[in-house]
Parts: sequence; structure tokens; C-alpha cells
Amino acid sequence: MSILEKIDLNNTPEHIAIIMDGNGRWAKQQGENRLFGHNFGVESVREVLKAAQQANVTYLTLYAFSTENWNRPKEEVEGLMSLLVHTISNEVGELNKNNVCISTIGNLDGLLGDAKQEMLNAFEVTKDNTGVQLILALNYSSKWEMVEAIKNIAQQVDQKEISISEITEELVSNELTTKNIPDPELLIRTSGEHRVSNFLLWQIAYTEFYFTPILWPDFKQENLYEAILDYQSRERRFGMVSEQIEKNS
Ligand code: IPE
Ligand code: IPE
Ligand code: MG
Repeated sequence: MSILEKIDLNNTPEHIAIIMDGNGRWAKQQGENRLFGHNFGVESVREVLKAAQQANVTYLTLYAFSTENWNRPKEEVEGLMSLLVHTISNEVGELNKNNVCISTIGNLDGLLGDAKQEMLNAFEVTKDNTGVQLILALNYSSKWEMVEAIKNIAQQVDQKEISISEITEELVSNELTTKNIPDPELLIRTSGEHRVSNFLLWQIAYTEFYFTPILWPDFKQENLYEAILDYQSRERRFGMVSEQIEKNS
């Protein structure tokens, strides 16, 4: 029995978020520079997209570039931006054929070169697609997103469009860049690091975490299936007790 066959397709996460980490260490192991690792990481993106399609996952959010990543050496930042531009322009046709809809979270205005234009083109080409919703977190950080949301809400109060008592969890969610996207049920981080690195802090309030030592360029379809299987073995209690969950299921 393949790993995919073991998955209960009626209980796969609707939304999986991934912190793709370990490209640099993978390259070092091969005696290559860091950009070599990032290039190989693109193949793993193809793998997880295929796996998401097979496993009935609707939303796949990939952390591709954080606001903190600007602090890396200039050649690496420029290399990552040009990899993004080339990858999107090369892949958009195939992604479109596969009914994938591309979107982003993060501040596109801050990206270098043609990256913003390339992303806008990809949104346009794939906007009517109903298959996997691929969300790239680019120039994203959760604290940035929350500050933007707080500013917007404060402005609405200031202009008397809403009153303070109307500020609810739902209203805050709708001010985030992930508006209209359900919170992820599963968050995966590769490379053995056990931290969140400023990713989706609000949205992962009740998310299941899955950490694997595998470095991102080595992450393949079956590794996504393993993560889903692990998720399916857990009991999500949402503050309740086990007996209540069993009664309701
Ligand atoms: C993840 O791999 C890719 C990005 C953050 C863009 P890293 O580049 O962080 O790889 P390590 O953590 O140095 O191995
Ligand atoms: C997180 O990885 C950001 C992305 C995967 C894009 P990093 O490798 O930048 O995270 P830290 O700095 O080690 O926590
Ligand atoms: Mg890293």
C-alpha cells in the first residue's frame, strides 16, 4: 500500500502552510553555494504541489521570502529575486494547465526588479482556476501584516466607519493579507528548526505543527503524505476534552 492510499481523503487538511527551510545547508553539504540550494528547492515546490493535488488539499501557502531575509548577503537576496522571476515566468503556463491559482501574501511593492510585475501577470493568467490555490508568502512577515491591519482598523474607527465595539476576531481576520483564506490546519517546517520565524502568527492559533529534519531540497511528495498521515493521527480538541470530541464524531 502506498503512503497516499493510507491517507483518508475525506479528512485531509484544507490548508497546509510550509516553512521551506534548509536550502543553504543542503547546498553546503553538496559543496555548492547557497543559490544552488535555492534552485533545487524549486523542484520540491513542484513535488508538494503535485502531492497537494493528489491529496485533495485546496490551499498551499509557501513561505518563500520573509521581511527578515532582506538582511542576507546582497548576492543571495538578488539571486532569490531573480530565481522567483524566472521560475514564475517559466512555470506559469504549466501551472495554469494544471488549474492552479496563484496568489501572494506580503508586500509586493518591496520586491526587486520585475518580481512584482511577474507576480501580477501570474495572478491574471491563473485567476479563474479552481484547483490548488498556491499562495506564496513574499516579503511577508506576520508582525508587518498585523501592524498594517491595526493601522487600517484604527483609521476606520477614526473616520467613524466602525465603533470600537465592532472590532471582533472576524473583523481582524478580514484585515489580514490572508482574508478569504481559511486558517491552516497543518504547518510544516523542514530542516529541523523548531520555530515559526514570523509566519502567520494569528492564523496558526489552532494549527497542528509538523517538524521534519529533512532539508527542503530533499522534501518529496511522499514526505507531504507522511505529514498528512501524522496530522490524521492527532486529536484536535479546541479546548474541549477527548470525550466530547468522540461524542461529536
Ligand atoms: C530556506 O532555506 C529558503 C529561504 C529562507 C529563502 P535557507 O536559505 O534558510 O537555508 P538554511 O536555513 O540556511 O539551510
Ligand atoms: C524562514 O526561514 C523564512 C523562509 C522560509 C522564507 P529562515 O531560514 O529565514 O528563518 P530563520 O531566520 O532561520 O528563523
Ligand atoms: Mg533557514
